[in-house]
Amino acid sequence: MKYHDVIVVGGGLAGLRAAIEVNRHNVKAAIISKVHPLRSHSVAAQGGINAPLENHFRGIYDNWEKHAFDTVKGSDYLADQDAVIRMTKDAADRIYELEHWGCPFSRTAEGRIAQRPFGGAGFPRACYAADKTGHALLHTLYQQIIQFKQASEREELVLYDEWLVTDLVIEEDVCVGVIAMDIISGEIEALRANAVIFATGGSGRIYGNTTNALINTGMGIAVPYWAGVPLKDMEFIQFHPTTLLGKNILMTEGCRGEGGFLLNNKGERFLGKYDDSRKDMEIAPRDIIARNIVKEITAGYGYDDSYVLLDLRHLGKDKIFQRLPGIRDICMEFIGIDPSESPIPIKPGQHYTMGGIDCNAECETKIKGLYAAGECACISVHGANRLGGNSLLDTIVFGTIAGRNAAKYVQNIRGEKGEKRLNDNLKLTKQNIDKICKSTGGEKPVTIKNELNKIMDTKVGIFRDASALREAACEIKALQERYHQIKLDYSGTRVNLGLIWVLELKGNLDVAEACVMGAMAREESRGAHFRTDFPKRDDSNWLKHTLCYFTKDGTRLDYSPVNIKQFVPRERKY
Ligand code: FUM
Repeated sequence: MKYHDVIVVGGGLAGLRAAIEVNRHNVKAAIISKVHPLRSHSVAAQGGINAPLENHFRGIYDNWEKHAFDTVKGSDYLADQDAVIRMTKDAADRIYELEHWGCPFSRTAEGRIAQRPFGGAGFPRACYAADKTGHALLHTLYQQIIQFKQASEREELVLYDEWLVTDLVIEEDVCVGVIAMDIISGEIEALRANAVIFATGGSGRIYGNTTNALINTGMGIAVPYWAGVPLKDMEFIQFHPTTLLGKNILMTEGCRGEGGFLLNNKGERFLGKYDDSRKDMEIAPRDIIARNIVKEITAGYGYDDSYVLLDLRHLGKDKIFQRLPGIRDICMEFIGIDPSESPIPIKPGQHYTMGGIDCNAECETKIKGLYAAGECACISVHGANRLGGNSLLDTIVFGTIAGRNAAKYVQNIRGEKGEKRLNDNLKLTKQNIDKICKSTGGEKPVTIKNELNKIMDTKVGIFRDASALREAACEIKALQERYHQIKLDYSGTRVNLGLIWVLELKGNLDVAEACVMGAMAREESRGAHFRTDFPKRDDSNWLKHTLCYFTKDGTRLDYSPVNIKQFVPRERKY
């Protein structure tokens, strides 16, 4: 049986940063990733990574405390403040570390790291590399990984690219490893480890209208959920205000940070009509702008009753070429318009999962030796609404913390645990996969996936209410039943992407169920969770985290307190 001291599941920013930290502590690590790390969804991040560097000082003073306050206020006071403080205090060090590793950040005229305004700050705090920040960060970290690999004569860092983790194995509340499938050979193996870090990204593909890559199925949070680890705050789903009409490709908040306007069908900057976006206009927080776009379209001021315009023309060609070249390429490639000449048709789309694997500010879960970081984790620094630019920061800061803590934890472990349990789980996984391959049912996986996406898009969107959520819950239950009748077109296991899809579809369904159950129970509006039947925030009953436990009969809900330190919850006014 293969053994690694620490297994990192996921090869995006959080996973790579965690693996680097594990290696720095002279502990052997392996990264298991469903795709080559450079193809993880982190590569698609565009606009920026927050840190209070004050590189555009214009009499506006910034520091970790101000960043922490903006994050907590943006979260509608649901964020755990110990975690937020940790993140904002570490932000500058992590950014300079990336700079020293060669990250090609854009620069100010004086040569400092350039920063642009993002929602919730109102002044430049987001460091960026044009509009390809995720690309720049991911390549920087991957170079460190390659350097470790080349420098180590022994196998100190092993990469399992294109392997899917199907099970997390726990023995007496201690994590002992994972079961994973090599997608190319179809071999299924047990991999023993004294610590496992989940860093598998978001679950946006439970929706159809999403900025997320096809790989963001939610399997990475479903696996710990099935193993008994609770998911936290799954009802909080972020809808990015500006996604390309018909494609849902991200049109970065950087477009608005650089001065872009949102226009209705009368050519008005309509955000000025709404109390909560009047002051900050296009750089108000995302939940507010997304709602106001939908309100504007519903009131008849959209185009074709479905979209508004993002106008960059006044920025000029030079600025667009320099700061937003990727946006221009995407618009030209996908809808044939040049944003320096024509406004971009946009509408909101699912973008980020605020909820995820329940863990604390040390990235520890309730299972010993199991850690989580990045979008799959709910630490919780984003609470009910994440500020733009905080997710890349979250991956880097908490990737580091998870790696460090996992490395320290395994250094104190003696003996070899879990081999029998791993073998038992391996046998069960093989039986399950064999059953799926041999199924003669009549259900097509794609039909179930499309139906799920439609339910989530139409009933669990920006505005929600009890009756739509109830319908969504019943319809997802029905899909879960139909899942048992799924039939594969090809039943071999070598490079069978249909099989991988089916395994992940179960994750999609169960994660969507957790999201709907949390949303149905939470009878208030907070951050990105807006209930038209309960339009007010209700701190006396709902200033608490939702916990979702997997049971064979569906999601069981529980709650846990929010960590409140210096920022006392108050009305969120902008
Ligand atoms: O709009 C964006 O560039 C996205 C940034 C983020 O989600 O933090």
